[in-house]
Amino acid sequence: MQLHISPSLRHVTVLPAKGFKEFIKVKVGSKRLSYRMVFYCLLFLTFLLRFVFVLTAIDTIDGERKCSTLGCLGKKIGPRILGKRLESTVPEVIYQVLEEPSEQTEIQRPESPQTLDEFIAEMKDGRPDAKTFAVKLKAMVTQLEERTRTAKIQEYLYRHVASSSIPKQLHCLALKLAHEHSTNSNARLQLPSPELVPALVDNSYYHFVLASDNILAASVVASSLVQNFIRPEKIVLHIITDRKTYAPMQAWFSLHPLTPAIIEVKGLHHFDWFTKGKVPVLEAMEKDQKARSQFRGGSSAIVANKTEKPKIIAAKLQALSPKYNSLMNHIRIHLPELFPNVDKVVFLDDDIVVQTDVSRLWDIEMNGKVNGAVETCRGEDKYVMSKRFKSYLNFSQPLIAKHFDPSECAWAYGMNIFDLKAWRNTNISHTYYYWLQQNLKSDLSLWQLGTLPPGLIAFHGHVHAIDPFWHMLGLGYQDNTTVSEAQSAGVIHFNGRAKPWLDIAFPQLRPLWTKYVNFSDKLIKSCHIRAS
Ligand SMILES: *[C@@H]1O[C@H](CO)[C@@H](O)[C@H](O)[C@H]1NC(C)=O
Ligand SMILES: *[C@@H]1O[C@H](CO)[C@@H](O)[C@H](O)[C@H]1NC(C)=O
Ligand SMILES: *[C@@H]1O[C@H](CO)[C@@H](O)[C@H](O)[C@H]1NC(C)=O
Ligand SMILES: *[C@@H]1O[C@H](CO)[C@@H](O)[C@H](O)[C@H]1NC(C)=O
Ligand SMILES: *[C@@H]1O[C@H](CO)[C@@H](O)[C@H](O)[C@H]1NC(C)=O
Repeated sequence: MQLHISPSLRHVTVLPAKGFKEFIKVKVGSKRLSYRMVFYCLLFLTFLLRFVFVLTAIDTIDGERKCSTLGCLGKKIGPRILGKRLESTVPEVIYQVLEEPSEQTEIQRPESPQTLDEFIAEMKDGRPDAKTFAVKLKAMVTQLEERTRTAKIQEYLYRHVASSSIPKQLHCLALKLAHEHSTNSNARLQLPSPELVPALVDNSYYHFVLASDNILAASVVASSLVQNFIRPEKIVLHIITDRKTYAPMQAWFSLHPLTPAIIEVKGLHHFDWFTKGKVPVLEAMEKDQKARSQFRGGSSAIVANKTEKPKIIAAKLQALSPKYNSLMNHIRIHLPELFPNVDKVVFLDDDIVVQTDVSRLWDIEMNGKVNGAVETCRGEDKYVMSKRFKSYLNFSQPLIAKHFDPSECAWAYGMNIFDLKAWRNTNISHTYYYWLQQNLKSDLSLWQLGTLPPGLIAFHGHVHAIDPFWHMLGLGYQDNTTVSEAQSAGVIHFNGRAKPWLDIAFPQLRPLWTKYVNFSDKLIKSCHIRAS
């Protein structure tokens, strides 16, 4: 049996089993045409065609004249299928039931058939009248449809969830480290050791900041940074993490010191400005979180909309995700306050790998600009390097259109050198919060996802474009980067879903990251973290 629906949905063609030359073409083109109706017709036809013999065998209860039962129906339809007269012989009651809004029929009845086979068996045994037939058919189709829809939404969401949830191996690592922290004094070392503390505010060192709650990822960034640095003894790496990750993070770097580099591990709660007084980032996040949770009625309302396409639903749910609003992402707007005595820092995301000596970043003349970043609108790779302001901001909004140029080149977070001295003379953080508020006021219609859009706005006019060598993007969302291209970049960035610590990572690119994981390490081994 083959079914064919014309693209315009005007015709349904049913081709019976091979060898059978005849076929049925049903015109479904009516003013009330809907996909659902076509679907019903299709199923109805399939069912009837396949089981005409069953139908004709079912005795009628009501007698031939009224012809409201399946048996009668089958007898009437049977001979006419080949005569292409089908529509007129379907009892009106069937259409009535099928066209009723779903809520009026009991679709969630547990005894409604789950599969076509069950349905057929039930029809055979029960010999129902046309109405019951239609109700059961509808219940089954509605259920199947609902399940297909749910599966679709889940499929779209899967990729997102797969990239934002913590794989169990990483969870295991955090738990084991937390255990070490509480039982092993070697895992509780003060980081850095007291005699090195002055280096934390010494501008003759190279200062790096890494904000992460992913210990394995942080360890790769740190190892790759230190191993490739010309003078590792001059590195100060400030690792910022959240309260729950602080103990395991400290345990990791106590047990795996990267001497001679100086590593500092700090929880956000250890920063003075964070615990004292009004902290705009917390306030803004709280408001933003609240707005997001109520955005479009919240997640349950989004899922409940039966007319929306699954792909759109998944995208809407994604906009609510806390991942795009995490403190770790917003924190970089506070670098001048977090490091009041430091003049210049390189801020690294936790999904990057350093492959070169990055001390040369300090030689770049910033021309008074605050943020040294790689631009993302030029370059060989048309897919990754095609981002302009219009890619992130909603230029249908007068507020955006008035202040910005849609074709202005965007730049990337992930590997930025910030001149904190120059930053302190600007209004960047202020602008950032001003626009976060504007976005909240306009119901998240200026932009929807992430911290880059407000960053683009806040750093507008304060960005110095650096050589793309310093930051190769896209390794987490497309795999047409060749390994040799990636190897020749100074820093590679697995931005996108396919993070190197996940199963969905691109296998040919993953070794560039796993290279910096020691798979013989006791903790790594005990959590079954493997190279592939
Ligand atoms: C459901 O989605 C459709 C299509 O986008 C939209 O027109 C409709 O207003 C939505 N319904 C509700 C209740 O949000
Ligand atoms: C920053 O901008 C706000 C208004 O946008 C203004 O109130 C404030 O004085 C400015 N601060 C500086 C240091 O320019
Ligand atoms: C962009 O702004 C327009 C105008 O206000 C609005 O109708 C639209 O929904 C916005 N787009 C998004 C994706 O929010
Ligand atoms: C790179 O891959 C993406 C999808 O993985 C594709 O859409 C894009 O066209 C590719 N770009 C090039 C230049 O091949
Ligand atoms: C990897 O871990 C093992 C076991 O802890 C250790 O003996 C080895 O020196 C480590 N290798 C590197 C390159 O750090």
